Amino acid sequence: MSKNFDVVVIGGGPGGYIAAIRAAQLGFNTACIDEWKNEKGGPAPGGTCTNVGCIPSKALLQSSEHYEHASHGFAEHGIEVKGLGLNLEKMLGRKNTVVKQNNDGILYLFKKNKVAFFHGRGSFVKGDANGYEIKVAGAAEETITAKHVIVATGSNARALPGAEFDEKLILSNTGALSISEVPKKLGVIGAGVIGLEMGSVWRRLGAEVTVLEALPTFLGSVDEQIAKEAHKLLTKQGLAVNLGVKIGAIKTGKNSVSVEYTDAKGEAHTGEFDKLIISIGRTPNTIGLNAEGVGLKLDERGFIAVDGDCKTNLPNVWAVGDVVRGPMLAHKAEEEGVAVAERIAGQHGHVNFNTIPWVIYTSPEIAWVGKTEQQLKADGVQYKAGTFPFLANGRARALGDTSGMVKFLADAKTDEILGVHIVGPMASELISEAVVAMEFRASSEDIARICHAHPSLSEATKEAALAVDKRALNF
Ligand code: FAD
Ligand code: NAI
Repeated sequence: MSKNFDVVVIGGGPGGYIAAIRAAQLGFNTACIDEWKNEKGGPAPGGTCTNVGCIPSKALLQSSEHYEHASHGFAEHGIEVKGLGLNLEKMLGRKNTVVKQNNDGILYLFKKNKVAFFHGRGSFVKGDANGYEIKVAGAAEETITAKHVIVATGSNARALPGAEFDEKLILSNTGALSISEVPKKLGVIGAGVIGLEMGSVWRRLGAEVTVLEALPTFLGSVDEQIAKEAHKLLTKQGLAVNLGVKIGAIKTGKNSVSVEYTDAKGEAHTGEFDKLIISIGRTPNTIGLNAEGVGLKLDERGFIAVDGDCKTNLPNVWAVGDVVRGPMLAHKAEEEGVAVAERIAGQHGHVNFNTIPWVIYTSPEIAWVGKTEQQLKADGVQYKAGTFPFLANGRARALGDTSGMVKFLADAKTDEILGVHIVGPMASELISEAVVAMEFRASSEDIARICHAHPSLSEATKEAALAVDKRALNF
């Protein structure tokens, strides 16, 4: 195998593996280094997303939702389930199979695109504008060279000081995806994306879940109206979300963990849990990269410092994904990976941060793109709003899931769509229409005039667009 490459990508998560494939498509002799190991010590490319993030969490969200429907959702459809049982080992096994299918898929794509894969830790040895030497420490140690380096080393779960992850009682996302017995009482610190998704999984499977959140508002960065609706719906399901708490001492016993905290009124409590998930955000990962050795600049928060084009301070060294500024999302990492490969090829790769969608895969799902109403108010933008509830949508009624709404925000003068916010069934799929519309700088009138299939959830999107001009037809 050649040891001299045009492009070497360090990290095989969604940012890295996609960058490598795109670079290879563009004709570059490309390598990707990734250190993730499966349980047998073999390669498991795909990063956090594939191994302990997007993919396994969605597998468990799906399985647990099936279980919840079978427990009490099917009854209203006239389906009577007797002798329902939970085989958690099998459920976790299926999740692991889904992960492995994705790992194998990436290895197949590397072969198909002639990307050389190195299993091990990549670190800078030396280099300059003429090229870089990269050491790969895997089963064997070797050195490869690169004209261009793309760093895509991702992120790690942030720990709370004094409560390090042991993955037995105090769990990061890794442990939260592999609990072998449903905990009776599960504590979750942080009501962010992971807290709500993992809290939902284990509540559906029977745990009593208590979520402890420092901020006084629920999902502060989400449109207020949507966040309020989501809070109401998730609370009704039994997810106990405590806002405005201050976490004190966390102590582990043999089989339990206690969390001292004060609530929003300042009253002291001690929560006793079988397991505790800590999901308070993630930190960029530059461990073992030897960034300092080659003078690769980090910012004050530990992210690799990049400009708008993902260029670092070193010539021909680029960085993408969770290890650089911006939302920590797999699709953002992928877009940056593609854009960087295209820039290396002299093309004009671009990522539009204004149209990156967010999805929280609770039930109902929460999805949005663009500005929230509170952001528009703060920016002094004149806007019009239109909402449409799923309660008035025929397909939602047929599905038996009428919770939530679609909300459009459009410029008061030009009618350009500025933000779309959804809480409701299949919001993750519905949001794509809004992303496309915003990329093409469509107006709410454009969506309102497009024929949408009947009966479909997407009609709620059209109706919300009509509601911007106060002419919703079915509400
Ligand atoms: P990563 O996926 O973290 O990949 C980095 C890779 O680099 C890893 O394989 C790591 O082992 C490797 N690496 C690091 N340093 C080195 C080195 N020196 N040498 C060799 N290899 C190295 N995002 C979404 O968009 N949708 C979701 O539904 C979603 N769900 C999530 C659920 C959970 C529980 C978590 C934790 C995250 C979720 N995310 C989701 C976020 C998503 O996983 C990340 O945004 C995404 O993985 C970032 O991609 P990346 O390529 O930058 O880094
Ligand atoms: P997060 O940033 O989404 O949420 C963290 C929450 O913890 C915040 O609400 C914060 O106020 C709270 N918090 C912080 N410190 C605290 C403290 N000391 N006590 C109590 N609460 C505290 O981070 P999370 O959930 O860890 O997820 C990390 C990232 O992973 C997400 O921001 C997202 O980028 C990505 N992710 C994306 C998913 C998706 O796209 N569906 C799913 C899961 C993760």
